[in-house]
Amino acid sequence: MIARSPWDRLKTKNFYMILVLVAVSTVAVWILSSPSPNLQTIVSKTQSGIKMASSLQIKEHQELIVDPTYLRRLGLAAGNSVTSVSVDAVGNQLVGLDDVPDILPSPKVTSGLPVIASAVRPDLFKEAAVLMKSVQSFLPEYKVIMYDLGLSTSEQVLLTKYCNSTWNCETTQFKFDKYPAHIKYLNIWSYRPLCIQETLNKYGAVIWVDDGHYFINGNLSNTLSRAREFGIQGWTIKDPTSSFTHLTMFKFFNMDQGSYYFQHAVESSHLVVYNTEKIARDLMLPWVKCALLEECISPPGAQNSGCNYFRRPLYKYSGCHRYDMSALNIILGKAFKFEEELYTSKDKVFGSLLHDQMLAENKTGPEYDMRLGVNQQVKI
Ligand SMILES: *[C@@H]1O[C@H](CO)[C@@H](O)[C@H](O)[C@H]1NC(C)=O
Ligand SMILES: *[C@@H]1O[C@H](CO)[C@@H](O)[C@H](O)[C@H]1NC(C)=O
Ligand SMILES: *[C@@H]1O[C@H](CO)[C@@H](O)[C@H](O)[C@H]1NC(C)=O
Repeated sequence: MIARSPWDRLKTKNFYMILVLVAVSTVAVWILSSPSPNLQTIVSKTQSGIKMASSLQIKEHQELIVDPTYLRRLGLAAGNSVTSVSVDAVGNQLVGLDDVPDILPSPKVTSGLPVIASAVRPDLFKEAAVLMKSVQSFLPEYKVIMYDLGLSTSEQVLLTKYCNSTWNCETTQFKFDKYPAHIKYLNIWSYRPLCIQETLNKYGAVIWVDDGHYFINGNLSNTLSRAREFGIQGWTIKDPTSSFTHLTMFKFFNMDQGSYYFQHAVESSHLVVYNTEKIARDLMLPWVKCALLEECISPPGAQNSGCNYFRRPLYKYSGCHRYDMSALNIILGKAFKFEEELYTSKDKVFGSLLHDQMLAENKTGPEYDMRLGVNQQVKI
C-alpha cells in the first residue's frame, strides 16, 4: 500500500468528480442534439398512444365517437365498408352517430322465442338463483344465458352447477378485456347494453332480466307480440328521465333536458328487445356507443348516491345519475318521438327482490318509489 497524503486524496476526488461531470454533459449533449433510435421510438409510441386515446375521446360537441372495432365485434358496423367512415385530423377512422345507417349490417333476427339473458355480479349469486328458479317454474321452454361478470371461484362453481344443459341454461364469461377499461366498473352498468347487444347479435331477440328481478308470470304472449311489433318493451317507473340524468349526457344525443320532464322512464333491468333494423340503428347503436364512451355513460360529476328525493318540482335533476338507464331513456324518447305507449308494457311479468324486501319492512315514500317500478308493485 502506498501512503497518500490528504492533498493527493483530494486531487483524486476532484479528478473523479470532473470525469463524472464531463461524462454526464457528453451524454446530455448527445441525446439532445441527435435523438437516438430508442428515443424516437419512445416519442412515436407516445404519439400513437395519444392517437389511440383520441379515437375514444369526446369531441367539442360531445359526439358519440367510438372505435369501430368494438362496433364491428358487436355486429353494429360492417367489416369492410369504409365509405361512410370519416377520418380525423390524426388519421383515425371514426364512425359518427349520423353516418352510420350506410354501414350498419343487417341485424340477426329470429322467428323463434327470444332467449332469456342475465348477468351475475360478484356476491349476488342468490339473486341469479331466484331468477333461474322463476324461469324453471314459469318459462321452462326458454333458453337461458347467464353472464359471469367476474364471480369468485366458489360462486362460479355454484352458477355452472345450477345453470346447466339439462334445462337449456348456459353460462358465459363476459370478456372485459375486449372492451375499454371503464366497462369493468360494474357500478356504471356499461356492461348491460353490451351484454344485451351481444345476445341480440347472436340470437336475434332477448328478454333481459337482472338486478334482482325475476318472473312472476309465464304468459308472455302479449308482451312478446308488442315487442315484435315495436322492437322493445320496457316497464316504467314514476320518475321522469330528467330527474336522474346528468345534464352532460343529453348533449351526446343532441337533446335537452326539458324534453324529458314528463317522460316516464323505463328500467333497464328488465326489457324485451327484438333486433329489428330500427332497434339496431336507432336504439342499440347509440346505447352501445354511449356505454363504450366513459364520458357519455358516466359524465364527470355524475354519481348514483345522495339523491334529493324531496326536490320540487319532481322533474328537476335529483343529483343521481342512472348511467345505462339514463342513456336508454334519452334514446327511447328520440327513437319513438316521445310516444312512450309504444314501447312500454303494463303486463305484470316481473317481480323485484328489492321491492319485496321493502314491502316486508313496510317502507314507503319517494325514496323508494324512485328505485321501484310502479308496475312491479305486488299487492299482498
Ligand atoms: C342441473 O340444474 C338443475 C336445476 O338447476 C339441478 O337440479 C341439477 O342437479 C343440475 N344437474 C347437474 C348435473 O348438476
Ligand atoms: C295470456 O294472456 C293473454 C292476455 O294478455 C290472454 O288473452 C291469453 O288467453 C293468456 N294465455 C294463457 C295461456 O293464459
Ligand atoms: C308491516 O305492517 C303490517 C301491518 O300493516 C304488520 O302486521 C307487520 O308486522 C309490519 N312489519 C314490520 C316488519 O314492521
